[in-house]
Formats: sequence, structure tokens, C-alpha cells
Amino acid sequence: MRRKLILDVDTGTDDAVAIMLAALHPSLELLAVTTVNGNVEVQYCTENSLKTLDFIGRGDIPVYQGCPKPLVRPDFPVPRSLKKDDGIHIKTLPLPPAVSSKQDKNAVEFLIETFRNATDDIVLVPVGPLTNIAAAITADPDFVKNVPEIVIMGGAHYTGNVTPAAEFNVWADPEAAAIVFSAGFAKLTLVPLDATFQALVTGEQAKALEDLGSNAGIAASRFIAQRIKGYDATQPMKVSGAAPVHDAVCVAYLVRPDLLETRHVNIVVETQGMHTVGRTVIDVNRRGNNEPNGHVAFGAQADIFIDMLMTVFQGGRRDHD
Ligand code: RIB
Ligand code: CA
Repeated sequence: MRRKLILDVDTGTDDAVAIMLAALHPSLELLAVTTVNGNVEVQYCTENSLKTLDFIGRGDIPVYQGCPKPLVRPDFPVPRSLKKDDGIHIKTLPLPPAVSSKQDKNAVEFLIETFRNATDDIVLVPVGPLTNIAAAITADPDFVKNVPEIVIMGGAHYTGNVTPAAEFNVWADPEAAAIVFSAGFAKLTLVPLDATFQALVTGEQAKALEDLGSNAGIAASRFIAQRIKGYDATQPMKVSGAAPVHDAVCVAYLVRPDLLETRHVNIVVETQGMHTVGRTVIDVNRRGNNEPNGHVAFGAQADIFIDMLMTVFQGGRRDHD
């Protein structure tokens, strides 16, 4: 039986690759996409998600729009790293306009109702700021109990990307992240930068994706090439001419758990520190008094990841035959 999942996204170039992988992998059933303010304003995340699904022939998968702002902070301060347009994310992805429309129901209401009424296990996969998830937890006391597993892209132990201390998804709404990590989910997996930076995709591999000739391969190649250009210009990886595709690693993990090496530890989120707000404080040496609340990925197998992209992205719509 295919694993059912819902992706919560701030589409975003790597979110778009995650959506395509989830929508086309034969072992997965992407039930819906929910959008949240993050990389770009939420209305652009919605439009980008709709046109990504239409482009690969999966316009049947519904998209629900969610929170336009962080839970508590009226608007997050733009640090130096975001003042420059790094080109990694843009408001409108380079794809034909969407023909599908978003659903009328709000994403948070959809998430609450879907997990309340679920008869099969559904994995919740947030790969943007955690505003929608925290709002669902706050609105429905049973939400956490109704979600059997959550796999989150976010956080960092060694180094941040939006500040020296913090990774973007957690930094963009730290109060929401603090609610999620302390909520008591039965099975929480966190995929931080420490893991996603080990699953880099190179320019050559992006070209190989384009050579597949499928819409998914062409789109993934376009998005990853854009990411490589942005990373080389603003935060070069240990391998130049390569970039992480953070969000898609979470989807790949659902099919191949051996993709990631995880440790069961405690995670809390700093919401006050002048220099550290948005930091995931991961207790790798059990120095604190808190019990482990999540499985944190510190290692990733790049070859498993790229092989999956190359295999799965042969599928879906082909406009270029
Ligand atoms: O820090 C990486 C995360 O922030 C990814 O989810 C990317 O899409 C952005 O949302
Ligand atoms: Ca994202």
C-alpha cells in the first residue's frame, strides 16, 4: 500500500522538487499540499504549488492556502542574509501559469479535519515555517494525537543559513516551531541542514535530470540549476557547483529510511536570544533534563537521493517528446 502524506510547503524551488517527488513516486500517495508564508508570500507559494502540480500532470492533487504571517511576530526582521536577493527562491517559478485553482477551505481547517477523520495513517511533512502546524495544534486539542508521524525539514545543529545560529524555517516563526517541538507528537523526525547539506545535487546531475525529457526532469533541472547559482554566489557548499534540495530529502526519506542517519534526542527552540532566536537547541550529549522528543538526522546518503530523483522524474507528463 502506498504511504499517504500531506506536504506543508512555502514553495520555493526545493519545495517544488519535493512536491514533484511526492506526487510521482509509486510508493507514495500525496493527498494534498498546504501552503504557508515563508520563502515568498503565501499567495505566491500557492500559485507556485499549483503550477508545479499542473506541469507534471497532477493537477488533481488539491492545494489549500494557509497562514500569511508568523504566529506571534508581526513580520520577521530581514537579516543581512535575506537583504540580498540570492536568487535561490523567486516569487513566481519559471513554469506555465497554473490552470488549477486553490481550494476554498483554509489549510489549517483542512489539516485539522483530515487528521480527525483519517482511517489510514497519514504522514505530515512540513517543509516551510511551522505556522500552519502550530495553528492546528492551538485550535484542536486532539490534533497532535491524530497525527501518527511528522517529518519536518528545518533547524540546524552545526550552523544556520539565515543567521549564524538559525535555519530559515524555524527562524521565520520560532514561536510556532517551539509549539510543534514541545507538542508531544508520537513520532517526530527532524531533517536539519546538517543532513540536507550532505545530499547535494551537482550541475551535472541537474543536466542529467533535464536529459530525461520529462516535465518533472526539466522542471527539477531548472530549479536546481537556479539553486546552484544562488548558493555559489551567496553560501558556496563544500562542493562548488552543487546545492542542497532540502525539502525533497524529507520526501525521499519516507521511501528510503536508510537515506538518513538519525539520533533520538531532545530539541527545543530559542525564541528570546538576541543572537540566537530561531536556533534549534539539539541536546546531542544529554546535557539537559528534557527527554528526547525527536529523531534528528545528522547524516544523509547523497547517492540514494539522486538515484531516486533520476528514477522517479522519468515519469509524469511529457510535453517535449
Ligand atoms: O532552510 C531551508 C528551508 O528554508 C527549505 O525548506 C527552503 O525551502 C526554505 O523554506
Ligand atoms: Ca521550504
